[in-house]
Amino acid sequence: MNIYSLKSEVHNHINEHNLLNNTVGLVPTMGSLHNGHLSLIESAIKMCDKVWVSIFVNPTQFNSKSDLKNYPKNLNKDIELIKSISEKISVFAPETHEIYGNNIRYRKYDFKGIDSELEGKYRKNHYHGVGTIVSMLFFLFKPDKAFFGEKDFQQTQVIQKLIEIENHKTQLVICPTVREKNGLAMSSRNSLLSNELREKASIIYETLIYLKKNFKSQGFNALISESINKINSNNNFKTEYFEIVDSNSLKKLEKFNEKNSYRAFVSVFVGNVRLIDNILLN
Ligand code: PAJ
Repeated sequence: MNIYSLKSEVHNHINEHNLLNNTVGLVPTMGSLHNGHLSLIESAIKMCDKVWVSIFVNPTQFNSKSDLKNYPKNLNKDIELIKSISEKISVFAPETHEIYGNNIRYRKYDFKGIDSELEGKYRKNHYHGVGTIVSMLFFLFKPDKAFFGEKDFQQTQVIQKLIEIENHKTQLVICPTVREKNGLAMSSRNSLLSNELREKASIIYETLIYLKKNFKSQGFNALISESINKINSNNNFKTEYFEIVDSNSLKKLEKFNEKNSYRAFVSVFVGNVRLIDNILLN
């Protein structure tokens, strides 16, 4: 399996793929790979001639220095996991300097407000950081398809806007959320939880399922308060936000109307680990 750390190396290979008319699939990640990431890679293998995985912990999308510092890293294990899927996959794992030089800053985008809902209220400029790195990757790889997880649904909507703003030829492929046996959405951050808290964190998905069952027949406000109480009644659990929103605009909605498509989004601190999840309601 080939592993590259320089943009110039990637550039040469992409030119070769283009000459051969190979469809290029890109799976952008921050490493510390789990089955969620691997499902994206497997979809890419099925749909593309050549698959690239990028592994880069992007500093400009982190709001806190300690979160960036504590973000789990394990490049050797990641490479073994990717190899176990296919030796033909190529990996781009650059150093920060290769991407940003001495200018570690995000660019500002007009994502038409989609970036300021939900996560955007609590992680200011996070999506400008995501946009900055994904834009660089799209210009470098010129992928035919790029694979992202529904687990970060708001991120997929921001990337779709980025594609439109910058006119990339890339088709966004959204892959379903992969969960642990107890329903907890897989996340690199889960490895930072104790076994006990990881088990108890199943309450997050259970609450989303409960909401899905009941949201048509009950007022949203009461249902949300009940859901937050369910989560917060566990020691060390603190819900940051819990919202039912329009699936397209991601704006908060108060009551059910047949015409709308709804999604519920939740963010919970479990100890000092921040977990997010979401579900399509109808
Ligand atoms: P990261 O958190 O490493 O996630 C990489 C991709 O894996 C994202 O598209 C994410 O939605 C997807 N993913 C994570 N957990 C998943 C799960 N349980 N099921 C399915 N897919 C899952 O998201 C990022 O990195 C970064 O913001 C990035 C896009 C790489 C830009 O830096």
